[in-house]
Amino acid sequence: MINAQAANTNSRIKSPLACLAVNSLKQVTQRRFSTAANQYVTHAHVQKQAAIDLIKLIELDASTKHKHCVDLGAGPLVNTEELQGIYKQVIAMDLSLTMLKNSAVTAPRICADMDNLPFQQNSIDVVFSNFAMQWSANFEMLMHSLYSALKPGGQAYISTVVEGSLHEIKTAFAALDSHSHINNFLSSDNINQSVKKAGFIVNNAAEVIYTDEFTSPLKAISSIKAIGATSQNKATQRPGLLTKSALQKVCAAYPLINNQAHVSYHVVLLSLEKAKI
Ligand SMILES: C[S@@+](CC[C@H](N)C(=O)[O-])C[C@H]1O[C@@H](n2cnc3c(N)ncnc32)[C@H](O)[C@@H]1O
Repeated sequence: MINAQAANTNSRIKSPLACLAVNSLKQVTQRRFSTAANQYVTHAHVQKQAAIDLIKLIELDASTKHKHCVDLGAGPLVNTEELQGIYKQVIAMDLSLTMLKNSAVTAPRICADMDNLPFQQNSIDVVFSNFAMQWSANFEMLMHSLYSALKPGGQAYISTVVEGSLHEIKTAFAALDSHSHINNFLSSDNINQSVKKAGFIVNNAAEVIYTDEFTSPLKAISSIKAIGATSQNKATQRPGLLTKSALQKVCAAYPLINNQAHVSYHVVLLSLEKAKI
């Protein structure tokens, strides 16, 4: 499973051992997603909706069914079967081995870091990445390496979470302290600039707000943990667990709409193309 095992994908992959060494921040992300793997599908409603919208952007032509697609940050292969209905082969890649293992879908899997892409230059037809690239340590660099890994005329379909997301959680925790309780997300301008700098042709770009609704602030806060998306900002993070009274304070400050606790995600959806030579 780890070592890019599918024989017919080997020509695309740089190293036979694709499960790369990752730094400590990556290990935290890896651990959180691995812990969340079992319950991920039950909680990932917003992610599913974004995937549906992203799949709608896929441009179909006579050559599509002959193409190989890499699902980057595939999680427990939630979109793989649908992509298999479109492309000849789908290779699922994720930082978390537990996520990759947590699926009955038959597909080649690579455990690797998107910030150290294990693919040869000009080797990939299509990259699909839903709700994962916000975890990249350097989105601009990722766009450059993605551009390089794609074949001329190659396509990338990306949804990524941007600034403005989880503002309800931010507001609630502001009642407690000045620590950061959510990740810092790039702005949609940052994303668009990086994409253009890398050389991509932008066929489609849209910003959509997806909202999950919960019957209580506690359920809303827990939902972030259930999908493995708790804060990574070590420097500004609040040390230790919340006490019961601190949690009560946060819940009391959670903004409600019609008695529902919303969790909103601002997401940029992109359809990109590498120029044909
Ligand atoms: C929110 S889940 C999205 C899963 C799936 N794409 C979906 O549509 O539901 C984000 C995934 O990105 C993975 N991930 C986070 N950082 C990564 C990295 N640096 N390289 C590869 N995958 C990463 C996580 O392990 C997790 O499975």
